[in-house]
Amino acid sequence: MNTALYADRRARLAAQLGPDAVAIVPTAPERLRNRDSEFLFRFDSYFHYLSGFGEPQAWLVITSEGHTTLFCNPKDLEREIWDGIRLGPDAAPQRLGIDEAFSVNELDQRLPRLLENKATVWYPFATHPGLEGRIDDWLKRVRARVRFGALCPDTQRDLCSLLDEMRLIKDAHEQDVMRRAAQISAKAHIRAMQLSARMLREGMDVREYHLDAELLHEFRLQGSQYPAYGSIVAAGANACVLHYRADNAPIRTGELVLIDAGCELDGYASDITRTFPANGRYSGPQRALYELVLAAQQAAVDATRPGARFTDAHEQAVRVLTQGMFDLKLLNKDRHGTLEDAIENRHYFAHYMHRTGHWLGMDVHDCGSYVEPSEAGLLSQRRDPLSAELVQNRPSRILRPGMALTIEPGLYVRPSDSIAPEFWNIGIRIEDDALVTEQGCELITRGVPVDPDAIESLMRA
Ligand code: GLY
Ligand code: MN
Ligand code: MN
Repeated sequence: MNTALYADRRARLAAQLGPDAVAIVPTAPERLRNRDSEFLFRFDSYFHYLSGFGEPQAWLVITSEGHTTLFCNPKDLEREIWDGIRLGPDAAPQRLGIDEAFSVNELDQRLPRLLENKATVWYPFATHPGLEGRIDDWLKRVRARVRFGALCPDTQRDLCSLLDEMRLIKDAHEQDVMRRAAQISAKAHIRAMQLSARMLREGMDVREYHLDAELLHEFRLQGSQYPAYGSIVAAGANACVLHYRADNAPIRTGELVLIDAGCELDGYASDITRTFPANGRYSGPQRALYELVLAAQQAAVDATRPGARFTDAHEQAVRVLTQGMFDLKLLNKDRHGTLEDAIENRHYFAHYMHRTGHWLGMDVHDCGSYVEPSEAGLLSQRRDPLSAELVQNRPSRILRPGMALTIEPGLYVRPSDSIAPEFWNIGIRIEDDALVTEQGCELITRGVPVDPDAIESLMRA
């Protein structure tokens, strides 16, 4: 394990805590799925970012001086026979490069001591249910010692504000893992496309879950621990349901399939969407809509570069999509006015109702403010044309090298008397993962093509 990497992150965090401060970071809880069966454990992203430690029941305490204490599960032969080997507090300092470690059973006894004579306690607000109550209990214990001369912290601050900013800029190690996660996911998408075409050629009954299984197979085969989020495999009209999950609907020749799936590798997510013809050949109307979304994505990619705002990509995608909606008669001049009117009044929202991207990292919708911190005080107001509510806007984040985000425009056409039936029930999204570079951005998910000819050709293979 690269302990220096985590030590450097902890030192950078400690330097921002201010004098006489302590930061407390728990990992995620173990969660029951039903009765006594647990969900597969996934560590807390903040905790892992600072420790590289993946066991449950663990806490980090970091002081302003950078002194780090870990609380973790103690060695316990019987529990280890049932649940697996534990690192344990004796081996932890050497293995993880931290200063000291204790059994988590000593947490309630030791935490008040670690908080005593400090001014500020930092922890992630509104992230771990019950954490505020535990911190209250520890502070009460410190306060009980005030009459013996102890000082009790009088300030609590949200640790997310510091860690979110750190995690927003991906270091070389993170970029490397994200590239590898992206490559695995790209390969999995290709396999799912090819399986769909092959099964249909062989006259088999193809279901969404067959492609879901193919994705998972490739993820795990390549060492990914789990999907980064529930895979969407949506046949035909199901693609118009934005949060559809792979189910048992049949995949039929002539339909499109939308797959939105990405693996998590060593704590980092990838997030890819491709929309392909089930049997490997786009129909005319499908291709027309597909090429529009692809053009919108290219406009968004061009707008993803250092110095641009996070919202620029969305605005460019909306402009291309809305013009295309007029060209394909999904919108019309009589009802929706000019291109500028349709954008201003959000008429495109009928067919494009989500944003064009989000930060990507340890969490698929990664942390990090979407507002430019240096301009957070600059408020503007406008009335939302659809809800008529007054909304406040702050200047969008300025992109910098090392930021990672998705670029994912889409187009969703529900049946409507005003739209040609050949477009009904088509849902298309094209999603790639981008790292902002010095010059522009690097698309790390293009191991699976987006060009419709290239998709048709690989599905024939
Ligand atoms: N798969 C989740 C998303 O695209 O945002
Ligand atoms: Mn996605
Ligand atoms: Mn996404």
